Amino acid sequence: MTCFSIAIDGPAGSGKSTVARQVAKELGLTYVDTGAMYRAITWKALKQNVDLEDESSVARMSQETDIQLSSENGVDVWVDGIKVTNDIRTPQVTSNVSLIASQARVREILVDKQREIAQKTGVVMDGRDIGTHVLPKANLKIFLTASIEERAQRRHRELTQRGYSVDWDQLKEEIRLRDEKDSVREHSPLRPAEDAIHLDTTGLSIKEVVQAILNLSRTKA
Ligand code: C5P
Repeated sequence: MTCFSIAIDGPAGSGKSTVARQVAKELGLTYVDTGAMYRAITWKALKQNVDLEDESSVARMSQETDIQLSSENGVDVWVDGIKVTNDIRTPQVTSNVSLIASQARVREILVDKQREIAQKTGVVMDGRDIGTHVLPKANLKIFLTASIEERAQRRHRELTQRGYSVDWDQLKEEIRLRDEKDSVREHSPLRPAEDAIHLDTTGLSIKEVVQAILNLSRTKA
């Protein structure tokens, strides 16, 4: 049996996770934050001083790692039983995650886990390659974008709320660089699926974007 699935892809800070979480809640589906999985592997590799460029070591470590995403709030993340919800969102993890995500074997391991979840339950899954690679038969595919200024503003707000002091220009440059790395990599780069619906969220409220996706999902149910 194939479960109902919504794929939401897009660049950093396009609002995917906030929107995807709310859409999942409204539709009674499970929210799967695939970025959190790449972050979890990056966090563990940094913690264990694994050479991030050494693909075999990173892959071996990934194979032995248990990642759990909360099905209750869609936010909490555990790595080998340790709650890492905040630890995976530090600037250090953020600046290294694209390197880990560029490695084919890590991707295979995480994509298997993502497909396994989507086989068991209906999902709203967000990431970079969900519509193109992870769930090519998703019932609805959305590609979310927003101007770089707006995306930087959202990240700035999020980081300052969590107590980090951030330089605006540096933040903008980091977002641009991460999108570039995610877009030019060889394996499953950030790209809209051919049948994805593009939604530019610049100037839109979260509520408006959620509503737009809910309206679209009704046409696919
Ligand atoms: O979504 P988030 O910004 O937390 O993702 C962190 C990073 O994980 C991305 O910049 C990207 O390198 C990687 N990622 C990926 N494929 C996904 C989800 C995230 O390569 N499906």
